[in-house]
Amino acid sequence: MTGVPSYFEEVRCHASGRWDQLEQDPELAGPWHQLFKQVQIPRHVVSELLQNADDAEATMATVDIQDGDFIFSHNGEDFIEEHFISLCRFGYSNKRALHTIGFRGIGFKSTFSLGDEVRLNTPSLSIAFRRKRFTEPVWQTRKGTSDSNTEIRVAIRDDYRLRELEKNLEDWTKSPASLLFFRSIRCMTVRGHEIRWEAKSPGPIAGSYWMALANDPDRQYLLIQSKPESFPEEAFAEIRQERMVTADEEASFPPCKIEIVLGLEGRLFVILPTGVKTDIPFACNAPFIQDPARVKIKDPETSPTNRWLLERVGKLATGAMLEWLGHKELDVKQRCKAYELLPDLNREDHSIAGSCGRIVEESCETSLVEQPYLLTEDESLEKVKGCIALPGVLLDVWSSDQVVHLFSEGARPILSRYVGSEYRRKLSNWNCFDEIDKENVLDSA
Ligand SMILES: Nc1ncnc2c1ncn2[C@@H]1O[C@H](COP(=O)(O)OP(=O)(O)OP(=O)(O)O)[C@@H](O)[C@H]1O
Ligand SMILES: [Mg+2]
Repeated sequence: MTGVPSYFEEVRCHASGRWDQLEQDPELAGPWHQLFKQVQIPRHVVSELLQNADDAEATMATVDIQDGDFIFSHNGEDFIEEHFISLCRFGYSNKRALHTIGFRGIGFKSTFSLGDEVRLNTPSLSIAFRRKRFTEPVWQTRKGTSDSNTEIRVAIRDDYRLRELEKNLEDWTKSPASLLFFRSIRCMTVRGHEIRWEAKSPGPIAGSYWMALANDPDRQYLLIQSKPESFPEEAFAEIRQERMVTADEEASFPPCKIEIVLGLEGRLFVILPTGVKTDIPFACNAPFIQDPARVKIKDPETSPTNRWLLERVGKLATGAMLEWLGHKELDVKQRCKAYELLPDLNREDHSIAGSCGRIVEESCETSLVEQPYLLTEDESLEKVKGCIALPGVLLDVWSSDQVVHLFSEGARPILSRYVGSEYRRKLSNWNCFDEIDKENVLDSA
């Protein structure tokens, strides 16, 4: 075999030996097959491969279906020995950074949900994996010349899988939000259709950007990123357990960033969308700990990591809202838009989504204590109860000074007329100010 990397045979032997062992001991093999089955979800394949491509620092990825084959390729780095070892194991990952979900060492195996043989071509490797021994690589003679890309190819087994895959590719083209959260992939081509996010302009606060899809430049989303922060000890303990890292194994996880996106529904992302849709007014991305099927996230009531991440989401949103509101160079109407970040939830919802939302909102509440965040007519910021709200029509008739004089007991400033009704309702639910409604105007005058 020419061109076979020196490490290949040892890795192959190790995988093969493991299968000999498993085939002799059904009790040992049971949990493997069970976990393998759990990741056989056709709609996860593209996401998992994108995830790995992003980890390999690809900037673009292409997905296509040609002559019954699923083909995924990316321009990231080629495999090195350590990555290959990890690819030929199951339930073990060389990845330690928690910026992505990539940590269980099972994602790649989801490709078997499309067919029985998965072929991998990279500048240094040309191999196939077969379902029966799904971690054992089989060296392939290279057909034609390979370019510098990494390509994964699977012959699609039947129409059902083809349809599932087609549906998923359609979802990607319709809602490509995840692409916002990848670290290096910015462009993805799905069956010839290019999806590309572009940063249109810096956002109203540090570390934020107005983003838009290249084919829909007028619809803009605000992406807000946090600074990296180290996990607290109890989260470390949970992550170690989740990743099956034994005590003697070196395990240090670098600080992680989180992100929120205003303009998207309140779904939680772990790069990819999870099944947790909250009522918070923005989407968030963080390395939440998920269930093995990666549908939901672990209940934050029992997962200290998830609780900590959700609290950070609240702090990030509040910090962003305060900075945005305090941005005096901005037009006051623009400053008012900061209230979009304020959640206003039904706290009686006891589902996982409900508790996630509640933790975010409670964290916002804690971060807002004693902070001035009520934008007034004179464009300054007041603390809770530091201003009053009056029907907007009054301000069309009188000047703000007159209105203060006439209607505001103790000459408290008045909430800016540019705080639209929806934001005003939210602030009112937060019990931020005293309100004089139309009926009471005459009484108080
Ligand atoms: N395109 C790629 N380029 C380089 N290495 C890769 C690539 N795809 C996979 N790998 C390697 O194969 C390993 C196994 O991938 P796999 O997706 O199964 O697990 P993982 O990404 O570590 O964790 P997860 O289960 O969360 O996906 C990765 O850790 C990585 O080292
Ligand atoms: Mg992966």
